[in-house]
Amino acid sequence: MSILLHVNIDHVATVRMARGTSYPDPVWAASLCELAGADGITVHLREDRRHIQDRDVELLRQTVRGTLNLEMAATPAMVQKALAIKPDVVTLVPEKREERTTEGGLELLGEAQAAVRSAIGQLTKAGIPVSLFIAPDPAQLRAAVQLKVPRVELHTGSYCEATLHPGTAVERDRLSSAELERLAQAAEEGVSLGLHVAAGHGLDYNNVAKVAAIPGVEELNIGHALVARAVFVGLDRAVRDMLAILHAAS
Ligand code: PXP
Repeated sequence: MSILLHVNIDHVATVRMARGTSYPDPVWAASLCELAGADGITVHLREDRRHIQDRDVELLRQTVRGTLNLEMAATPAMVQKALAIKPDVVTLVPEKREERTTEGGLELLGEAQAAVRSAIGQLTKAGIPVSLFIAPDPAQLRAAVQLKVPRVELHTGSYCEATLHPGTAVERDRLSSAELERLAQAAEEGVSLGLHVAAGHGLDYNNVAKVAAIPGVEELNIGHALVARAVFVGLDRAVRDMLAILHAAS
């Protein structure tokens, strides 16, 4: 089976919020993405509500036909939101107000684990599967298993940055091959530990094929590159172009 595409539509909301208008509406965007063949829709309801709003998630819950994946921080307020909305999946992510986008994976070792553990407990009890956004690191994978989640999303940011390294092509190849290998090993280990494995962050039309080809990776979450292309070619075409690459690679 081919890898699944979940489109992150946060940046449709970013354009809307730049002017405080009611358009472009991420709810419309989600429908167009699904009509073009996307398997699911991902939104990050940030604590500062800088792009996606509560109203968006509430409407998306009613309109999305595929999987609705809600990304959020592991805070009591966000857990209450998720319990009310009941998305198909919650992906817990680290969140810092000053960051431009999610910078790293969750830290599942040490003190930070308590909040994540509590959020997983409440969401799981309500029947909402939880995914943890983590670096492709064996220690984080093992911690995820101990937290008894069914799935993880591997952070592809380091691989994507390596593909853009300003050095020579040889350096770029060496660095990005090493990062790709880390992702492949993490996916293999995740599957062997019984986890469903997704991946995402920073993926674009040039770097996505190699990640889509990693055995064991079931789903990709892609936002910025796709919405950026949609500005020029439309959302339908942007999704179909991405799906064509994924289908050829996986
Ligand atoms: N996965 C997670 C957990 C994210 O936080 C993000 C960014 O919101 C993405 C995937 C999508 O990243 P990008 O917008 O770079 O495709």
